[in-house]
Amino acid sequence: MAINERFLDELNARCDIVDIVSRYVSLKKSGSNYFGLCPFHNEKTASFSVAPDKQIYYCFGCGAGGGPIRFIMNVEGLEFQDAVRYLAKEYNMTVPESEGNPQVRHQRERTLELLKESARFFYAQLHSPIGAQALAYFQSRRLSKKTMNNFGLGFAPDSFHALLDAMTAKGYSKQELEQAGLIAKGKNGTYYDKFRNRVIFPIIDIRGDVIGFGGRVMDDSKPKYLNSPETAVFNKRRNLFAMNVAKKTKSEYFLLAEGYMDVIALHQAGFDCAVASLGTSLTDEQARLLSRHTKTVIVCYDADTAGQSASQRAIDILKKAGLRVKILRIPGAKDPDEFIKAKGPEAFRKLIERSDNDIRYRIETVRDKYDFTEDEQRILFLREAADIIAALESSVEQDVYTVSTAKLAGVTAAAFAQEVKQAQKRRTRQAKRQLHREVRAPAQAAQPKTRAIHYDNMKSARAEEGILSLLFADASLMEEMREYLKPQDFSSPELGKIYGYASALYNSGRNITVSALEGILEPAELELLVSAVQTQIPADTRHKAMEDYIRIISEQKLSRNSSADPEEDPLLRKAQMQRKSKGFDAGT
Ligand code: UTP
Ligand code: MN
Repeated sequence: MAINERFLDELNARCDIVDIVSRYVSLKKSGSNYFGLCPFHNEKTASFSVAPDKQIYYCFGCGAGGGPIRFIMNVEGLEFQDAVRYLAKEYNMTVPESEGNPQVRHQRERTLELLKESARFFYAQLHSPIGAQALAYFQSRRLSKKTMNNFGLGFAPDSFHALLDAMTAKGYSKQELEQAGLIAKGKNGTYYDKFRNRVIFPIIDIRGDVIGFGGRVMDDSKPKYLNSPETAVFNKRRNLFAMNVAKKTKSEYFLLAEGYMDVIALHQAGFDCAVASLGTSLTDEQARLLSRHTKTVIVCYDADTAGQSASQRAIDILKKAGLRVKILRIPGAKDPDEFIKAKGPEAFRKLIERSDNDIRYRIETVRDKYDFTEDEQRILFLREAADIIAALESSVEQDVYTVSTAKLAGVTAAAFAQEVKQAQKRRTRQAKRQLHREVRAPAQAAQPKTRAIHYDNMKSARAEEGILSLLFADASLMEEMREYLKPQDFSSPELGKIYGYASALYNSGRNITVSALEGILEPAELELLVSAVQTQIPADTRHKAMEDYIRIISEQKLSRNSSADPEEDPLLRKAQMQRKSKGFDAGT
């Protein structure tokens, strides 16, 4: 479903990045740029910059960067296509649906409409005489009327065709109902309702569209929950339950729970930042979605062993998405819902305040691996825990965990402190070795802010960044540049890829702008580009700079591949010529 390029260019031309960002950030002009407090991380000094000439924003603090579309994606938590629609609406433009697509688009809208109608149907059933038992069920779970309405809870009657009849009466075909995951075909070829005699939890995406349902039995029968299957509009990996509400929270953190009921109970108790995954374990996509809305996620999964091992997986996934993770342990109850019911919202707030960072959690997880009745195993535990503690930066923190861990294993704090010291010495030795390596390969410190990308050859990568900053300032340099420099000459595959795209833009007569690549590059690549184009090279030195960059890239390429034949390689030939003309080769 690619959006027409011409339209994107047109939209980007109309967008005014300063205007768009100003709605979220108060900006002050300084030189040709604007500065303000970054909306994507907490800061006290303004390191968030907006450059109207390039139509980009960039945070010198956290490295977030992009053009108008990326900005809207990040602040509003939207996917690319939706951010485009959002901006198009602002600027009174209509997004053209690309060839062959009106059909698909129309179908999608019909499906969403059908799901909305179905949600209304379930809701009406809950509040009709048929739904008395379901209503009593929700009440027994202490849900208020307001909560039920906020989440649009409903009831699917004990019938094989209640929904089917109601929706066909509204003009939807059986095919449409089947494609929406609402009905299925039986052995005898007749269709029947999938959700029967279950209380219904509508699953609503971040935009507020109903995309599927979860249905729970009202007793102990199995399966406890029935969820809509994946459909054209329902992607379980990319959505989170209650994200449509939680995205508006003022809270600094998000709560990640396991169950729909936990999330609903949390919201009712005033924690409007609670979300859950959709009947599967947490995915990378969901973690990225969270990272667009918060810096910190507090995991409050069920207290049982299944919940705890799911926590461990969730921690890794959340951390990979750059999130700070805390773990909330629920004492004396099986899940947040039960805890709040027993102890109340205030007690839960205290749990949040006391929630551990993942160090304590990791130590306790390590402890669970060992059998403390065996001395050998206790020693192994202490070694492993010492490594974790030695890695902490703050000595106060080290002290705290040293004492608590020693206690956990029943040894004196002094003895265990020795173990931690040893572990720290090992780390220092390793760090020294690492430093030594870095001194020999200089400028290691200037690795990209984006953790996802690592430069193998700093010297070349710097020059490659320079090439990009030149091109995005003055596209006409491409004419000469492309004769020598190919994407595969770049030491950094990411920078090379961007160069390739820039040259494709140039070839097709489009402008080389950051905006033009927003829909194509990965977020990390886009940030890399935006950070590279921060370097301003004065117009009168650009040609000279280009020559220098090309020389550096060629030298580095040669040093990587000394058997390359300069006669066959325009880049190396050019470098050779440059060297000769400057007398570099004199005397050889
Ligand atoms: P739980 O069993 O903890 O559900 O499963 P819950 O929402 O807390 O419900 P109560 O409190 O027992 O009523 C956690 C989540 O796992 C998925 C659902 O998304 C559920 O909310 N799940 C569970 C299923 O998809 N199917 C099942 O059969 C069970
Ligand atoms: Mn539960």
